[in-house]
Amino acid sequence: MKALLSSQLSAVLEGSPHWMTALANASAVPYEGVELLNWAGFYLLEGEDLILGPFQGKAACIRIPKGKGVCGAAVERNESVLVPDVHSFPGHIACDSASRSELVIPLRTSSGRVFGVLDMDSPYPARFTAADRSAMEECARVIEKALEELNIPF
Ligand code: SME
Repeated sequence: MKALLSSQLSAVLEGSPHWMTALANASAVPYEGVELLNWAGFYLLEGEDLILGPFQGKAACIRIPKGKGVCGAAVERNESVLVPDVHSFPGHIACDSASRSELVIPLRTSSGRVFGVLDMDSPYPARFTAADRSAMEECARVIEKALEELNIPF
C-alpha cells in the first residue's frame, strides 16, 4: 500500500507547473490513500515560522513558530516526529480537538536545508507505526524531488 502511495505521488507530481500545484495534489494523495486520517498537508518555513500550506481537512492554525508543536519540533530536530498520543506531547498544538495521533516529516532541499514539513493527523491514538514513518519519509523524498525542479520561494 505504501509503495503504491509513493508511486501515486510521483504520478500526480509529474509535470506540475508550480510548487503550489504540486503540494496541493501531494496533500490529496495521502489524505485519500492513507486510512484513518482527519488532516494531511504542509507547513512551509517563512523565516523562523512555519506557515500553513496546501492541505486537506479542517481549517488549521496558520503560523507555528520553529520549535513549537509537533511540526516545529520536527523542524528544530531536523527529523521525523511520530506522536502516538498528542495529549502526551508537551506543546502539541490542537488545530482540531479530534486529532489524537500525528506524524510529521521534514522536507529538505537538495542541499539539506529544511524548508517545511508534511503533517498527518489521525483521530485514532497510535494510528502511525514506524513502518508508516519510513513509508512517509519515502513519500517526502518524492515530493522534494518534484519541488527541486520548481522555483520554491521558501
Ligand atoms: N498539531 C500540529 C499543528 C498542526 S495541525 O495538526 C494541522 C502541531 O502540534 O504542530
